[in-house]
Amino acid sequence: MAQTEITPVMQPPKVGKVGDPCAMVIFGAAGDLTRRKLIPALYNLAKSQVLSREFAIVGVARSQMSTEDFRNKLSKDIKEFATEAVDPDLWEWFVKRIYYLAGDFDDKNLYPKLKELLDKVDRDHTTHGNHFYYLATAADFFAPIVEQLAAIGLMEENDRWRRVIVEKPFGHDLESAKALNQKLLSVAQENQIYRIDHYLGKETVQNILALRFANGIFEPVWNRRYIDHVQISVAETVGVEQRGSYYDQAGALRDMVPNHIMQLITLTAMEPPVSFRANAVRDEQAKTLHAIQPLSDEDVLSKTVRGQYGEGIVNGERVPAYRSEPDVPSDSKTETFVAMKLQIDNWRWADVPFYLRTGKALAAHNTHIVIQFRRAPFVMFRDTPVETLMPNQLILHIAPEEGISLRFAAKVPGPAMRLGAVDMNFEYADYFGTQPNTGYERLLHDCMIGDATLFQRADMVEAGWCVVSPLLDVWKALPPRSFPNYAAGSWGPKEADELLERDGRHWRNFEK
Ligand code: BG6
Repeated sequence: MAQTEITPVMQPPKVGKVGDPCAMVIFGAAGDLTRRKLIPALYNLAKSQVLSREFAIVGVARSQMSTEDFRNKLSKDIKEFATEAVDPDLWEWFVKRIYYLAGDFDDKNLYPKLKELLDKVDRDHTTHGNHFYYLATAADFFAPIVEQLAAIGLMEENDRWRRVIVEKPFGHDLESAKALNQKLLSVAQENQIYRIDHYLGKETVQNILALRFANGIFEPVWNRRYIDHVQISVAETVGVEQRGSYYDQAGALRDMVPNHIMQLITLTAMEPPVSFRANAVRDEQAKTLHAIQPLSDEDVLSKTVRGQYGEGIVNGERVPAYRSEPDVPSDSKTETFVAMKLQIDNWRWADVPFYLRTGKALAAHNTHIVIQFRRAPFVMFRDTPVETLMPNQLILHIAPEEGISLRFAAKVPGPAMRLGAVDMNFEYADYFGTQPNTGYERLLHDCMIGDATLFQRADMVEAGWCVVSPLLDVWKALPPRSFPNYAAGSWGPKEADELLERDGRHWRNFEK
């Protein structure tokens, strides 16, 4: 039942705090992220009046362009990627504070030029010398860029702040993540480094915290006594699109698990933090990650599944096999699907399995978390067919549906005591409408006000890699023999279903 009235306590926050005056430097500004997400998100912040009037952007990239060219290009792009019709007056104000500098990130001469430009921008837009540097570049450049910025004094804080946002992939395994952390931390403080994970920009992901900690009814049952198991599915219908060369090096495991899926696990499983301060929340997330039981080599063989899609039909369209995608070798051994069973070794979750899966070219685009509760004792319903005695499930729908539903049993009307599974649904759109959003607004704004709660700390990134390290090692030693092993448009390899069936459980699949 959709209800349109909301009580005051549930109203979305009014316009938040205005971001500090600052200049944002985007390294890799000619790329897709800038035009598709960053600029539309900044524009939305301006529209919501939470972007300081004293704000400027400096784009840095290899493409030869003038500031004028860059402004013209973004003025065209915004028409395509804005989340709603562009207000010409606001855009005119916005675009005037955009600058461009062409250069190679590994060219030392670039940085004095950048400093000179930033001095001018700081003066012209009274940004108080506050800067944040967004690294939307290939991962190889992350450390060199920050080292160069530090060498020339652009990371020095004093009475202004200097921050750096680092995109994924943060390393390609535990060793490289540690090495990157070490390099960054040798020239900057931890509180200057904002490791971004765009999953934490999603309202529905942030809502996991609200659901758990702003309501009294869930906490008493949120533990091993009442919860049978947890399923986290991040199913995509897209293949690798134009990213074959990146993806073939990364694979589904690295691309999705140590980062996005670990966020979903920690928010679902963490203990209540003592406050919503950045380190209070991140301490609890880190503890949860550390409590994930490391998989032994045998566990990797028995509790994890990898897959690669073959040709098939997704949403009515024929999709080529992964090995036929552009920039993918025809004998690629890279996984496009992964499923696993993990245990969290603490008092709350001992013996409660967490089943995870993610994959490309699957039957439906759907990200959700299923909390399955233990069954009621069956005594009274001994004669009821077992499939109608579906256990209670609380489902957190993250994408594309945004909401929460609760499945429970109800009596089917009629003379006999028959049971049917029914759903109680909450949909965001029914209560709060839909706010056009790229998913980056909150994260960029948080960086401008110095709130690192939704960003990864060094220890969390490393703990995420620790979880997947055994899989990387065993899978490397034992290349897959049966790839491709699932058809595009299916729900992944049959072994992923068997992983749950062996435990008497089933994945909950949502068709849309
Ligand atoms: C990215 C991955 O980080 O997340 C992509 O590199 C993936 O492969 C994407 O498709 C998924 O994000 P979302 O927000 O569409 O679920």
